[in-house]
Amino acid sequence: MTLIEAARAVRENAHAPYSNFKVGAAIRATSGAVYAGCNVENVAYPEGTCAEAGAIAAMIAAGDKRIAEIAVIADSPQPVSCCGGCRQKIAEFADGDVVVTMATVEGLQAQTTVADLLPGSFDAAYMVRS
Ligand code: THU
Repeated sequence: MTLIEAARAVRENAHAPYSNFKVGAAIRATSGAVYAGCNVENVAYPEGTCAEAGAIAAMIAAGDKRIAEIAVIADSPQPVSCCGGCRQKIAEFADGDVVVTMATVEGLQAQTTVADLLPGSFDAAYMVRS
């Protein structure tokens, strides 16, 4: 199963009664294992979580540490882009050259990298005291 296929499958489980916008995400970790997540909305809207966050949580809970590749899919006119918060979350666990595949359920795909999604990102290097 490709990463997009894994994202497409988990998207079916999304809990999105408020936006009706189901999103699926799948991560291939550097170990080769695949982790999937979907958006999980809440009646208290800010408590909802994105698909990417779910996939990252599954990866970390399983003991993997780093993202080798990530894919996201939604029923959008153009390949769905990760929100700003998810860009920062992905950057925590991925090198800048990691490929991000964005897709639509109808089969459009686009690819970018973590560095291109989040240029000038805040990272741990800024926290080193001189
Ligand atoms: N959503 C994601 O799951 N990932 C993104 O990167 C963009 C937005 C979800 C959040 C919310 O449940 C729905 O899409 C509409 O914003």
